[in-house]
Amino acid sequence: YPCTWTASLQSYIIFVYLSLSLQVKKYLKPFLLSQEKLQEISARLKKNMIQGLGKHTHHKAPVKMLPTFVRATPDGTEKGDFLALDLGGTNFRVLYVRVMEEEQKVLKMDSQICAIPQDIMRGTGEQLFDHIAACLADFLDSQNLKGQTLPLGFTFSFPCEQIEIDKSILIHWTKGFSCSEVEGKDVVKLLRDAIHRRADYDIGSVAMVNDTVGTMMSCGYKDQSCEIGMIIGTGTNACYMEEMKNVKRVEGEDGRMCINTEWGGFGDDGSLEDIQTQFDVVVDKTSINPGIHIFEKMISGMYLGEIVRLLLVKLTEDKLLFKGKTSEALLTPGRFETRFISEIEEQDRGLKNCQNILTELGLKWDSVDVRLVRLVCDTVSIRSAHLCAAALATIVNRIRENRGLDYLKTTVGVDGTVYRKHPNFSDKLQAMVHRLAPNCSITFLVSEDGSGKGAAMVTAVAQRQALSHLLEDSDSDRKEDEEEDK
Ligand code: GLC
Repeated sequence: YPCTWTASLQSYIIFVYLSLSLQVKKYLKPFLLSQEKLQEISARLKKNMIQGLGKHTHHKAPVKMLPTFVRATPDGTEKGDFLALDLGGTNFRVLYVRVMEEEQKVLKMDSQICAIPQDIMRGTGEQLFDHIAACLADFLDSQNLKGQTLPLGFTFSFPCEQIEIDKSILIHWTKGFSCSEVEGKDVVKLLRDAIHRRADYDIGSVAMVNDTVGTMMSCGYKDQSCEIGMIIGTGTNACYMEEMKNVKRVEGEDGRMCINTEWGGFGDDGSLEDIQTQFDVVVDKTSINPGIHIFEKMISGMYLGEIVRLLLVKLTEDKLLFKGKTSEALLTPGRFETRFISEIEEQDRGLKNCQNILTELGLKWDSVDVRLVRLVCDTVSIRSAHLCAAALATIVNRIRENRGLDYLKTTVGVDGTVYRKHPNFSDKLQAMVHRLAPNCSITFLVSEDGSGKGAAMVTAVAQRQALSHLLEDSDSDRKEDEEEDK
């Protein structure tokens, strides 16, 4: 008797779930992107990338395609001791790194995490850099390194116009930072000024590094065909090795240079309006930088939880969840964290995790609610993985075409909490890239501390290469890139 009872209860739950999920799916439909749609998005991104590379078109380009002055991936001859700073991910970190030539190894000797309080994230630039210089001072003290002037790799993961490897102008803040008096300024100078204000230690040469570049370089030491770096964490972005002849803003035609695409800015000119849902629009409008990094806001860890929360609020309002009864926590922006999505989607423990999370959020759920919440999380994370796949496919296809190859074998260095922690994000992403770039075989390498060790590696490679400069924009050669203006 109990068995029959359980069986009929289960069929009842399934029946209710199926009928409610049909209604919920109507809300989720705008999140489903067909392969054709993703192909179309990839084609749009390709155009934007060409625009970003152009000497005269880059000013207005939403995808900035920033030259990094990294012209080579590691060749295994790099060596030395370095400091590294890492700002722009989950934590701010200071590291002491040794690159060993003989063993082709990068060793993290020690590191320290320093919190950046909210008031500093949104205070003045001087406060931010004084705080950074103070953290570095503490660390050097603890390592007995204050007397040395070590070269420093600065992973500063925001869009910067790099003039030289050690001169880098912040274009605009992203990911929750908004310190005054930094946009438009040289970040290396701000750091050096803060260190000089203290006058108790000094640093050697500085190399500015985006986290994508650090990620590519840290993998490049192990696998020399690694020529793409991708981050899907708090924010999202990628870099890759572009042919110098296509990098019209930097002198020289030979060889390659790593380009920081800043693909998070895709859509900032309105070109993604057709796929933005009402929830994406709210996430953007209520962020501290409306209109900036539209693509990133559909994909990365800083925003995914909020998209899910807004969907759950809507479904509750329309009485499809929790019998129409919401909670204060669910109505609070930011309360549904992105890590909840990963926990809810875990294969075995997912439904149990979901119950605990909903209880914590003060919601009265039944087993149908739990399944529907999981369906919402699934839908939002799959869209994110598929959009990343479309963007990555654009890059691998471009590299293949650049080199006139029928088939490209390449490696992507990857990092970021969403990619690492979500139970099936990487599988979904890889399967879709495979479909969108059928003539490319891609190895994915999860980077081991790209922002720390990778930054040291960039500094090491930079040391063995001559510095070069960004070209001034001039009218005389406007004809050169008529193609880009089309
Ligand atoms: C944001 C930043 C970019 C960084 C990415 C990942 O998109 O603008 O520079 O690489 O986040 O951290």
